[in-house]
Amino acid sequence: MKTYESLLNDNKSWAAKKLAEEPGFFRKLQHVQSPEFLWIGCSDSRVPPDQITQTQPGEIFIHRNVANLVVNTDVNLMSVLDYAVNHLKVKHVVVCGHYGCGGIKAALSNIDFNQVLNMWLRNIKDIFRFHRKELETIGDEEKKVNRMVELNVKEQVFNLAKTAIIQKCWNSEKRPDLHGWVYDLGDGIIHPVVEMKAGTDIDPLYEYDDL
Ligand code: CO
Repeated sequence: MKTYESLLNDNKSWAAKKLAEEPGFFRKLQHVQSPEFLWIGCSDSRVPPDQITQTQPGEIFIHRNVANLVVNTDVNLMSVLDYAVNHLKVKHVVVCGHYGCGGIKAALSNIDFNQVLNMWLRNIKDIFRFHRKELETIGDEEKKVNRMVELNVKEQVFNLAKTAIIQKCWNSEKRPDLHGWVYDLGDGIIHPVVEMKAGTDIDPLYEYDDL
């Protein structure tokens, strides 16, 4: 494990290496940012979005939280979504979970994680309840968690489609497409589990009129 001083030293050598490879690298990025992707991922340190997709600075706009949730009262996430969709004009929004997610495991347990974490994890317990029938047929605990990871990603993609931010943009500009992916910590591969192209029909209960 690195010490905090080595983070600063390694940052200096990274910057020097980038400059050597491409002298205009930082100058080019200083004044514009036009990423095509918004990435909503888990905070887990083993799932670094830019490394696992080999993207460079400037290519993806990133929001991360415990278990990659899209909670409609989360001002932080909604601000990121609004900015990415309406100002950066991203073409794709990716929700990426990962097998073996600690947040999902915690939510499926009965452990009291105290006030704030309990509040956050409650969102996940609700998803378990929607899919209880299927999940309760899975005997193996690890398999159950991993299926729940996939179902969670799907629900979060649906949660994006329920927002007026996404619906408005679908109506006027036919973007962004929504993607739900799951990263496998065991082999580093990302598995797509759901896709909603811009304009896909959603449950009318969540549709807004006159956007
Ligand atoms: Co996680």
